[in-house]
Amino acid sequence: MLWLYVLPCVLLLAILVVLGYAAYIHYQHVKYSHLPGPKLKGFFVGGSDFLDEIGKGELTLAEAVYNMHKEYGRVIKMFFFHAHFISVIDPMAAKTLLMNNEFAKPLYVYQGFQKVFGQRFLGYGLVSETDTTKWERHRKIFNPAFHRKYLMELMHVFNDSSDRLIQYLSIKADGKTEVSLMDAFGRLTLDVIGKAGFAMGDDMVFNDTPFTDALGTAFEAMSRQGREIFLFMNPRYSAFKYRSKARKAIQLLRKTGEDIIRQRIEDQKQGKDLPKDILSFIIKEAIVEENFSIEEMVDEFVTFFGAGQETTANLLSFTLLCLGQNPEVLKKVLQEVDTIVGQKEVLEYEDIAKMEYLMLVLKETLRLYPPLFGTARYLHCKMEIAGYDMPVGTTIFFTNYAMSRAEDYFKNPLTFDPERFRRDEDK
Ligand code: HEM
Repeated sequence: MLWLYVLPCVLLLAILVVLGYAAYIHYQHVKYSHLPGPKLKGFFVGGSDFLDEIGKGELTLAEAVYNMHKEYGRVIKMFFFHAHFISVIDPMAAKTLLMNNEFAKPLYVYQGFQKVFGQRFLGYGLVSETDTTKWERHRKIFNPAFHRKYLMELMHVFNDSSDRLIQYLSIKADGKTEVSLMDAFGRLTLDVIGKAGFAMGDDMVFNDTPFTDALGTAFEAMSRQGREIFLFMNPRYSAFKYRSKARKAIQLLRKTGEDIIRQRIEDQKQGKDLPKDILSFIIKEAIVEENFSIEEMVDEFVTFFGAGQETTANLLSFTLLCLGQNPEVLKKVLQEVDTIVGQKEVLEYEDIAKMEYLMLVLKETLRLYPPLFGTARYLHCKMEIAGYDMPVGTTIFFTNYAMSRAEDYFKNPLTFDPERFRRDEDK
């Protein structure tokens, strides 16, 4: 007869939990009621009509958010269950929040980078560290790696990998074979980051290795985990198999990184000549920081591969697409490259700065097709953004895909016009 007492208690508890959760969602709705945004699809789930097309595969999230900004202005709000999504397209706010280290990267966004299906992935590397004090210390050590002087020393890697790409494409250039240039650029940037970052000897332009396969699988899984929020607990066998494949791919990446790091530490102990690459910065970070574990070094290894490879490959792919769609621009780029590079076998660092028009083309491509469509920061204090009061505890998303397509900031924003960066009005 015990159940006669237990059952009502369980039911009562369940009702109280649901009521408590509903009250919390209501509180969130009230807290942000002053912000514009589309109508919710449901009280509990949140969502909006704008997002339906993403589910059907007709729009990307970036495009859906862009459409919402077109309709509602510089600030939009949405909810997913109790979580708020506030996107802002305001350059002043972007400058204030992104250039001030005290605004942290919000954990609920970046934990999707730290772990994928429970497996440590980018961990607590530069991209996904949400503790501002730790991030700042690590960033100071890495700052020289982002400096021009450091890149100047890597010209031989860029030249060598580019030669390999040309060789790779020449073999296929029989006038019949179709080549995915997106794939080819992915090979190129993988080769560059492998060599410039970690002195990896493998030729990754020509060869598909278990490492290159694992990289693709792991990053696709990270992205799917963000898009399909219930995938991590989907009980279907196919979902279980997918999660297991993703975890194994990440383990392979991290094990490769660990082996390279241990070997470098060993070489250092033996007083061998060490290459000047990103790995040297990682080892230096470990020396400066006490208690910096191998796991944390592996975090940085995976982070630099992740941050540097697909982003640059996508920029190259989109640039080519824009050039294909704009023959006049292509003609000018070719003229400039012919004048500055001509028959030269090896490019000098100084040559790059001379290709001013190409630089405008890259900027214009980044404006229309940013490889990362946005980023987010956490407000630990109240702030007015684009005329709206933002309460403490708000996570602000900067959707640069939408900001750089807004008429408020760019004339004829959808036109591919590299020269706009030379004109004052669009600066
Ligand atoms: C076109 C190419 C690239 C684009 C569009 C791009 C874009 C970005 C963006 C938007 C962020 C800020 C992320 C955030 O705050 O959430 C970021 C951070 C970062 N990127 Fe890149 N990136 C590119 C290339 C690279 C390359 C080549 C490397 C390294 C070899 C790299 C390494 C990093 C690192 C380590 C961070 C974290 C910096 C920090 O928070 O201290 N990126 N990148």
